[in-house]
Amino acid sequence: FRTLDSLDPRGKRILLRADLNLPVKDGRITDRTRIDRLSPTIAELADKGGRVIVCSHFDRPKGKRVPEMSLAPMAEALAEALGKKVSFIDDCVGPEAEAAAAAMRDGDVILLENTRYHAGEEKNDPELARGMAKLADVFVNDAFSAAHRAHASTEGVARLLPAYAGRLMQAELEALDAALGNPSRPVVAIVGGAKVSTKLDLIGNLSSRVDVLVIGGAMANTFLAAQGHAMGKSLQEAEMHETALRMLAEAKANNCEVLLPLDLVVSAAFAANAPSRTVGIDAVPADMMALDVGPDTVAAIEARLRQASTLVWNGPLGAFEIPPFDAATVAVAESVAALTQSAGLKSIGGGGDTVSALKHAGVAERMTYVSAAGGAFLEWLEGKTLPGVAALEA
Ligand code: 3PG
Repeated sequence: FRTLDSLDPRGKRILLRADLNLPVKDGRITDRTRIDRLSPTIAELADKGGRVIVCSHFDRPKGKRVPEMSLAPMAEALAEALGKKVSFIDDCVGPEAEAAAAAMRDGDVILLENTRYHAGEEKNDPELARGMAKLADVFVNDAFSAAHRAHASTEGVARLLPAYAGRLMQAELEALDAALGNPSRPVVAIVGGAKVSTKLDLIGNLSSRVDVLVIGGAMANTFLAAQGHAMGKSLQEAEMHETALRMLAEAKANNCEVLLPLDLVVSAAFAANAPSRTVGIDAVPADMMALDVGPDTVAAIEARLRQASTLVWNGPLGAFEIPPFDAATVAVAESVAALTQSAGLKSIGGGGDTVSALKHAGVAERMTYVSAAGGAFLEWLEGKTLPGVAALEA
């Protein structure tokens, strides 16, 4: 794909697909990570004399103009991050957007209204894509986190204009390539989270690519139960036992070592600071549930990490939102950060809860790369082609 290194933005109208789908609570942005990571791309293009037309989806208005899902407040947040004016335009296509784009001067930045106000966005309607393409001379996609959607503003428009990867897109793709595309070995993957059923493809793909696969979180309960361990009241998916055993066999056939928990932290209740204790995997009491992996498991993971060159991490090892069940996730995260800083471990994390877990552990800044993407990161770990990325490569 082409990067901004091969684009001279001066005087050009640039349609920039951003992901401004930020978490908002009571009208306030609760996490600005995506804006912070996107701003350098906008600043670079504007500073070099480009006319930057930012577009994005926000939430899921399903083709309707839902007022609470307007991107208008994001114009202020963008202006703040960039330290320059960002005009807001009430639509992402049509006469008003066209007039605004035509009136821009070099270095100007405008933000268009939510692309999902149009039903054609999610349908990848060529007419909507043409309407957006009309606004600009070139297209820059900086929304890796929306690249798993084949929508008009991610996929359609990339086929109508000369298309480039923005700096954030580039950084994400380079980090992911270093993690799985072309990694230095051995590669360890840590996969956690609640359900095996949501991570079938992910585990299948990883076990064919990595050297060690660590399985933690509640999904590990399903694997342990499938192997015949009594799991008490632990969360698990009884209907997935056969699948879990098949996955273990496949990993073995692929020469991938699977590390399941060796010990567990159990409690009678899923509540903050509920009394808990550490037990072996054969000693989970019938009235208790596993909520974290134990210290022997942490030590075993750390031993694998000390041998590793690359780590891919998706999903917490325990119920990290509720202390003390964050202990294993925090301890392993600390080791990952230390090995990244002192031993050259390439550590890449992302997807869903992972970013919150790594932030909670206070290590996100000390890892090689933490992705700002949720679903896109997961689909990429599953080995799927992301339409937004494929369109840049075409
Ligand atoms: C995200 O927040 O993961 C992306 O912006 C995609 O959002 P979507 O799941 O609504 O398509």
